[in-house]
Amino acid sequence: MKLKNLEDLFVDELKDIYDAEKQLTKALPKMAKAVESEELREAFEQHLEETKGQVERLEEVFRLLEKPARGKKCKAMEGLLEEGADLLDEDAETAVLEAGLICAAQKVEHYEIATYGTLARWASDLGQDEAAKLLEETLTEEKSTDERLTEIAAQINREAEQPEAK
Ligand SMILES: [Fe+2]
Repeated sequence: MKLKNLEDLFVDELKDIYDAEKQLTKALPKMAKAVESEELREAFEQHLEETKGQVERLEEVFRLLEKPARGKKCKAMEGLLEEGADLLDEDAETAVLEAGLICAAQKVEHYEIATYGTLARWASDLGQDEAAKLLEETLTEEKSTDERLTEIAAQINREAEQPEAK
């Protein structure tokens, strides 16, 4: 399909992030299962619930645009999650693995923050104010997840420096 204008590009990018969020809902439970830190597990589990809501929010955006909610394989998310999965296969000290998983999760969040920032802007440029509002809500959630991970990392990084001293 030819991308004729900004709206076409907007819809195309919505399909990408729709698929990305769905991929993430499958990966987060595995990440939560792999960690021992209660705080980190809770953060992953909470973000799983948020992510399910974000999928629904995207479906609402598609509805507002009168377009079918359809995904298009997000290769970036696939790559980011593959790296996270590789980490799970490594033989690593618990805190070291946790520090690595926080890194992987923050790469995902930053990818999403970039995407939703752009999508919210495009929606408002296109006069789709309601869609813009929904996309901004998700953007706020992604940013606060990123900040929470930074906070949790402080303790885990210390443990990862000298796991044997724990
Ligand atoms: Fe998300």
